Amino acid sequence: MRKLAERNVGRAIDLLNERLAFERTGVRLYDRMLLRMRLAENGEVQRMVDRMQRYRDQEREHEEWLEDQIRALGGDDHVPTEKSVLVLAETQGIERVVHRDPRLDHDFHALLAAELADTAGWDLLVRMAEHFGDREAQREFRQRLREEQEHVLFVRKVVERFLERELRDQQPMPVSYL
Ligand SMILES: [Fe+2]
Ligand SMILES: [Fe+2]
Repeated sequence: MRKLAERNVGRAIDLLNERLAFERTGVRLYDRMLLRMRLAENGEVQRMVDRMQRYRDQEREHEEWLEDQIRALGGDDHVPTEKSVLVLAETQGIERVVHRDPRLDHDFHALLAAELADTAGWDLLVRMAEHFGDREAQREFRQRLREEQEHVLFVRKVVERFLERELRDQQPMPVSYL
């Protein structure tokens, strides 16, 4: 992270803090959905729990890794910065859906939006590291970007399944998961 931060450490911390705010939101989204999915009496929903838990744990690892990076640069991982405030404003609608909307298909729809934004965020970090010739940071960012890309593929597949059912005019999958 040294090269990326050597010109403007405050801006580098702000950029990492942006990602951190998003990862913390991601953990909250997964935790909330997992809680409700575990209570659902539906085999199809139950079968998704292990994978969702694994992705949740990856979000958590991203969060902790970013906290370490910010502290190593002399920053405080609990002080809001310009872009962390920005992403929290951006994700408010997604959080509102996952916390208040009882429908699982709506939650996955919101989660897809979150994962797409998250993937774009890690991709930007990879590009910045590349731009400033920080190979070590690039490798670390890329590893996490790959995990995010896997999240998108899975969540998109689930959203697709819901949509296929709707378009076939069948009952949407478990609303019973409340
Ligand atoms: Fe994430
Ligand atoms: Fe993710």
